[in-house]
Amino acid sequence: MEEAKRFIDTHSHIVFGADDGAQSLREAIDLLKLDREEGAFAVFATPHYGRENGFAPDAAMVREKFELLKEKAAEEVPEIELYLGTEWYCAWDLGDRVHRRDAFRMNDTDYMLCEFLEYGQVYETCEKISCNLKELIRRGFRPVLAHPERYRAMQEDRERLRELWEAGVLMQVNAYDLYLNSKARTRETAQWLATERMISFIGSDMHGTRPGKKGPRLKEGLRWLYEHTDEEYADAVAFGNAEKLFLKKGE
Ligand SMILES: [Fe+2]
Repeated sequence: MEEAKRFIDTHSHIVFGADDGAQSLREAIDLLKLDREEGAFAVFATPHYGRENGFAPDAAMVREKFELLKEKAAEEVPEIELYLGTEWYCAWDLGDRVHRRDAFRMNDTDYMLCEFLEYGQVYETCEKISCNLKELIRRGFRPVLAHPERYRAMQEDRERLRELWEAGVLMQVNAYDLYLNSKARTRETAQWLATERMISFIGSDMHGTRPGKKGPRLKEGLRWLYEHTDEEYADAVAFGNAEKLFLKKGE
């Protein structure tokens, strides 16, 4: 394995006790150390928020725990900068939830990481995904679709992803899905998005170090990206777009 590439992890569940991710400060720090070994130099904490999927952590509690995590991380993993965001369930009225400050946008920008339901036999249609994301754009927000490669309806009709991208929806792919995921349709959709130059951000979607929880595995997926696209594009996906759009660097 060649040396790890540098990247900004734009999707993680490290606000301990806020969702189904890390359950303790220790576990969150251990995840950050693993992410660092993979090559992360900045990480967005993006706890789930959405009554529909059973997560509605109190915003003040999330902020407080995030600040505690930041303090501890500064001691134990000083190479990593931490930022706050949310993985919002993309309901029709998401714009109202944002205005009520129920949870957080990406580092207080207009960008919002959005997900749809996808587990077991429960999944959402292309129409609903498209309609709710476009409503958010209409209201002046900038949606980033979390792991578009995972949605069954979109896997079956990839051109719908292009339609969303052309409408202004940015895409965050889980690096794991680019190479390591054994589900062929998920992997192929992630790779298709890369070769069509429709990925803007990369993430780990790490949930924990406990058995059955997803840890950060990005190296192999990033290597695939660098081998199958050009360096300028891969750098933008790995860190450049997040720096420019979420951190407002280099403007
Ligand atoms: Fe997630």
